[in-house]
Amino acid sequence: MRDRNDEDKKNRSAVKKVFKILEGIMLKKILLSVAIIFCFVSSSIAADLSPIKLFPPDMKGGKSLMQSLQERKTSRSFNTKKLPIEVLSNLLWSACGINRPDSGKRTAPSASNRQEIDVYVAMEEGLYFYNAKAHVLEPVLKNDLRKNTTTFPQPSRSSVEGAPLQLIYVADYSKMSVYTNDEEKKFYSAADTGFIAQNVYLYCSSEGLVTGVRGLVDRDALSKNMKLRDRQKIVLVQAVGYPE
Ligand SMILES: Cc1cc2nc3c(=O)[nH]c(=O)nc-3n(C[C@H](O)[C@H](O)[C@H](O)COP(=O)(O)O)c2cc1C
Repeated sequence: MRDRNDEDKKNRSAVKKVFKILEGIMLKKILLSVAIIFCFVSSSIAADLSPIKLFPPDMKGGKSLMQSLQERKTSRSFNTKKLPIEVLSNLLWSACGINRPDSGKRTAPSASNRQEIDVYVAMEEGLYFYNAKAHVLEPVLKNDLRKNTTTFPQPSRSSVEGAPLQLIYVADYSKMSVYTNDEEKKFYSAADTGFIAQNVYLYCSSEGLVTGVRGLVDRDALSKNMKLRDRQKIVLVQAVGYPE
């Protein structure tokens, strides 16, 4: 009788073990399916958006440099009207487009010509990456991240959020191996961003647009929203639009 009980116990624990193994396999399968679905959904999010082929820059438009400097200022009130593609094209080329195709150099200088600052464009329809070489806006995410670029103590937050686009300047530290430590990378990428932001200021004053650069941004949260890599660091954001 005792032997039989022992055997029953053994059998029960063997069955339990088998169930545990099956449970583990099932769980792994479920997790794998969820991961596959997630990858599929997140890649199809960007796939839903088409690249935006930008127009070649119009060299004739705009006010004189002296007039543009005279009118340069920070604005924090924006009309929600969208920028036409011609204006968006000129804006991005002015920011850091290629002005010497032979060398691939840009409208903004960069320390050791690292060209480490990437310009992301957050618009209502989604997040795009400015590919300066192809002069194209490449889709990144089909999410409106404009509101994620403003943080609470920001003045006129609601109006800044209403701007049709937010430029997000992201330093790619992996392009800066010439510098030995992150402090140097931070210094040079901040300086390089300043030139791009000033180009945008001048283009805007030249074209009757308004703009404002901001350092006050929740970089950790925005980096997560943008799904940035570890070596990509948000430097500044800049709203652009029409006056209210
Ligand atoms: C690096 C940098 C960071 C800034 N950060 C913010 C910001 O977070 N929020 C804001 O409202 N303005 C910000 N500004 C805009 C300044 O407040 C503005 O340039 C300054 O008041 C001078 O005004 P002006 O640009 O019209 O001459 C920033 C400017 C710079 C250069």
